[in-house]
Amino acid sequence: MSMNESNHSLSSNASEYSTTTGQIEVENPKMSMRNVDVSYGDKQAIFNVNLDIAKNEVISMIGPSGCGKSTFLRCLNRMNDTIESCKVSGDLLLEGQDIYDPKLDVVPLRARVGMVFQKPNPFPKSIYDNVAYGPHIHGLANTKFELDEIVEKSLKKAGLWDEVKDRLDQPGTGLSGGQQQRLCIARTIAVSPEVILMDEPCSALDPIATARIEELIDELSANYTIAIVTHSMQQAARVSHRTAYFHLGYLVEIGSTDDIFTNPSHKLTEAYITGRFG
Ligand SMILES: Nc1ncnc2c1ncn2[C@@H]1O[C@H](COP(=O)(O)OP(=O)(O)O)[C@@H](O)[C@H]1O
Ligand SMILES: [Mg+2]
Repeated sequence: MSMNESNHSLSSNASEYSTTTGQIEVENPKMSMRNVDVSYGDKQAIFNVNLDIAKNEVISMIGPSGCGKSTFLRCLNRMNDTIESCKVSGDLLLEGQDIYDPKLDVVPLRARVGMVFQKPNPFPKSIYDNVAYGPHIHGLANTKFELDEIVEKSLKKAGLWDEVKDRLDQPGTGLSGGQQQRLCIARTIAVSPEVILMDEPCSALDPIATARIEELIDELSANYTIAIVTHSMQQAARVSHRTAYFHLGYLVEIGSTDDIFTNPSHKLTEAYITGRFG
């Protein structure tokens, strides 16, 4: 059954899902989004989304293909700025600061809110340089010794150090897919982000590499706030504390991951998690 057919049978009226079910506020928000609308040209992709992201939580975003997960995630570090037709409106705050303030420099913003993409995309440089590049351009190291330290620490946090410590001068692109994705995570970590955005980071990986990344997400959540888009409900259930369910550009439901998967409140969430469409 296609998504459109199921939309007709499950809900033909946006009023049934245009207000979010569940608690959008958290006590100690790292990021806070209100009334977020996003359009590509005259096509609206996100409708009035309101959501807080708590410090050190892992929040997953799920929903059928095309429901706006990537679009919403990319708002959080202004990655949509790179798409000319894309217009974002609403209030988007990082630690209370408006990230869409025209005076704000997006380069340091994207260091504070880093991003890991679907397909591992290491630079065509050595393993060392992939990790050292960010700290170097952001001036985070004064000496080669300090830079070496950041590279080692970042690779350790990304769970890759033992596998690459003897070949740091070799190209990052020569690693396996799972190692490349951990290298990209190391590269993100190297500039000391506060928030890490991940857009389907395991979709190009085999199950073993996926399990390794999922373990890593769990370890990283001690120090970072993580927002992950995933098409895998099992993954969302395994890695996240809260889950947000999107449908046709609306945030339909937000709740604890346990509740969303065992006792969802909205019929569309229930239909999705029980596999009736997606
Ligand atoms: N660069 C783009 N230009 C125009 N439309 C886009 C672009 N990216 C996404 N869209 C549209 O926005 C909607 C949401 O897409 P997306 O955020 O990629 O959804 P998801 O990640 O949930 O699959 C879709 O209708 C999609 O076609
Ligand atoms: Mg997507």
